[in-house]
This record gives sequence, C-alpha cells and structure tokens, in this order.
Amino acid sequence: METNGTPDTAPPSRPGPGRARQDAIYRSGVSGIRPRVPTDAAGLERAARRALSRKAWAYINGSAGEGRTYDNNRSAFDSYRILPRMAHGVKDRSLSTTVLGQELSSPLLLAPVGAGALVHPDSDLMIARAAGRADVPYVVSNQGSSPLEDIAAACRNARNPDKSREYAGHWFQLYWSTDEQLVDNLIARAEDSGAGALVVTLDTTVLGWRPQDLNLGSLPFSRGQGIAQYTSDNRFLRIVRQRLRDHVSGGTGGVRVTPAAVASLLSIARHHPGPTLRNLLAPEPRASVETFLDIYSNPGLDWDLLATLTQRTSLPVVFKGILHPDDAERAFEVGADAIIVSNHGGRQVDGAVASLDALVEIRERIGEGPTVLLDSGIRTGRDVAVAVALGADAVLLGRPHMYGLAVAGEQGVREVVENVLADLDLTMALVGAPDIAGLRQMELRRSAPGPSRVSARRQL
Ligand code: GLV
Repeated sequence: METNGTPDTAPPSRPGPGRARQDAIYRSGVSGIRPRVPTDAAGLERAARRALSRKAWAYINGSAGEGRTYDNNRSAFDSYRILPRMAHGVKDRSLSTTVLGQELSSPLLLAPVGAGALVHPDSDLMIARAAGRADVPYVVSNQGSSPLEDIAAACRNARNPDKSREYAGHWFQLYWSTDEQLVDNLIARAEDSGAGALVVTLDTTVLGWRPQDLNLGSLPFSRGQGIAQYTSDNRFLRIVRQRLRDHVSGGTGGVRVTPAAVASLLSIARHHPGPTLRNLLAPEPRASVETFLDIYSNPGLDWDLLATLTQRTSLPVVFKGILHPDDAERAFEVGADAIIVSNHGGRQVDGAVASLDALVEIRERIGEGPTVLLDSGIRTGRDVAVAVALGADAVLLGRPHMYGLAVAGEQGVREVVENVLADLDLTMALVGAPDIAGLRQMELRRSAPGPSRVSARRQL
C-alpha cells in the first residue's frame, strides 16, 4: 500500500545462489581466508595446471591439432555482448528448468570426461558426490575410472539434503563399440543404474590428432586408465578371454622394456579389478587394454545403426557431437529425444566451427521445439546465460569441473559448480531475467570475434 506516493518498504528478496556464494566468500575473507579454488576461469586453469602432472594436463587441457576449434569455441562466446535492461524490478530468480521431462535445479550438467584417474583414482566418485551435493546431474563417461554402478550410487547417496526430490540424477554417455552385444550390455547397465538418459557420442569414431598427448607419447587408456566401464562388463571380459584363447594380440605392436614400460604395466595392474600383484602376473589386464583399444568405438557408425536405438532402450536418447543442421534434423528423424551440439571441446576436428555458432544455425533450422543442449567452450555463468539466450535448453560444463577436481578434489568440483551458478544467478539479476524463460529473452549483440580473454592458446 502507498501513502503520499511513497511505497511501503518492499519485503526482502531471497538471497539466491549468487548472493549466498558472494556472502560466504566475503565473510571468510574477513578472517583472511581466500577461496582455494580461483573464482575466475583463467585463474582456475592456471591452478589446475600447477596441480596436475604433465600427462594429466596434456590429456585434460589438450585439444586437436593447432587448437583452432578450442579457440573458436572461446572466441564465439567472446563475440557476444549482453545488452542488460534496467529498472526491471527482478528481485528473486529461479534457475530451475525441465529437460527431457526431468526437473533440473539449473540448466547445467557436468559433462562426461574420460580417464579422470589421471587426476585421482576415485575421480568419478568424487565428481559424482560433488554433483549430487550441488544438485546437478553428472553425465557419466563411458571412459570413466569407476564402474557406472558405483558412480550412480555415489550420485544418489550424495543428494543435496535441502532438496525434497530424490537426487539430481545421472545420465550415461556411450561410445558405440564394434561389438553390438557390448553396446546392448552397456545400455542395459545404464538402464539398471537408473540413468535419466543415454547420451551417444557421435564425434569420436576415432581419436582426433592431439599433439599435447602425442608429444608425450601418452594415452591414458594404454596405461589402463579410463576403461573401468569395460573391465566391469561381463560381455567385454568374455571377449578378452576369447582373444587370449585365440592368441589375438593388440594393434599396439612390440613394447620395449624400459622403466616407463614397467610403470605402465604397474598402472594397468593397479587399475584392473582385483589385487595388483595378481594382475601383474596375469595376461588379462594387458589383454583388456588391447581389446579396449580395438573395439571401443565403431568407425562404421551410421544413421541406420543409430535408428536401432529406439528398439534397444527405454531411456531418452541424446546424440552428442552434432554441428551441422542437416545432422540435427536427421538425429530427430531417427528417434533422438535431444541433441547436444558439441565439437568435443575442440578435441576432435581441428578448425571446426564453434559449438555456439552451430547452435544458432541449428536452432534457426529446427525451431524452438526440439531439446538442444550445448557443450564446448562453457567456462562461466555468463557463458551459460549467453548459450541459453541463443537457444540452448541446458549446457554441459567439461574441463572446469576437472580443473576443480585437480585443485581441491570433491570440494573443488563443488566450488566450481557453485561459482558458475552464482555467476549465472547474478547475471540474471543484473540483466533482469527472473527465470530461464526470461533469460531466453536476454538481448545480445555480436561484435567481431577477437582473441579470447579466458584462456590463451593451448599451451604445448
Ligand atoms: C575422449 O572422449 C576424449 O576426448 O579423449
């Protein structure tokens, strides 16, 4: 009610994740405590580089070729300018949204990243717990370092205590193997684990040319890191045992006996299920690595094969790695429930289009209806806001959560997620977007792309 034109004092607004995070940091700052995990993307990247081994940094930070796609992703984000509105009166915000019929607390999911064992043997369990506590779904990697079932349990048990619903959920990311029974087994395991969707990665029928790994001669899988979904799979183990009976050797050629070879052998033995000493003496762990390298991905994957998925799973199917509008149309024609526009964080084709640019073209072609997520290039909450304004229903955060893990373990992942969501919330507060529908109306202007401020070119 107003008297003499003076409005009554407005009721206080809820603080929201942005204010809450700022308050927590500034309050600790009074006691001289600064955040362990840098709150800016470039600082986070630098801290992760310091914390990681050369091989881990090469694999996680690395990208294809000369890093052009990686750079394109970042400069596409940089090229958009937000045009904020004033006096909009937005006091409270909701970041929640619905994707594939699932209620999410925000339009953010954690992307699948393989071979997290490079950072910590329990990386996936730690990320799962952090994701559960931060109330964001984790897309579990087919090249994870713990069995899917254990990761799903970690997500479920770590649900955010403030939330009434069971837990944020997990999805499962699948590489299409050359062995169709293995594909079916992995799908069945995803269903049994309670996954909310099956994410099929289309852009990695072979690994891209990655100089950062190549210059170190380093592939984590050949040291047994990132193959836990396989070594926990009964169909995979049957193939391995058959190959041993048939004396099939892998395509890796003869290995010279050097200290590094011994270390690799030890690493394979450690990462294989069972006691390390027994694994050192047994042929199965090494045969598992070779089998994995031979069969994990099918270069012959085509739309006909993908179309069989509608008969093979009850889960919502999501195709990841779409960049061309024709492929986006085709994906929905063969039964996809959603697509993820992605260039695999610049790790596959060097000099490919930025995912953000592809998102705009794809939305223009397929319209507002179909569910489209964006992956590649997201570093901050502001980036999430731009992606949503350009048509993404949700986004996947990749390298930054691995950087958080490197810097401060499970807590580091959680802080990275909280920082991104805080930045998103504050951006919404400042531009006047009360919710995700409002964010879609945020105005953007495009300027000529320049060099990215967030991260310098890939460092070899
Ligand atoms: C596999 O997904 C990779 O990017 O290395």
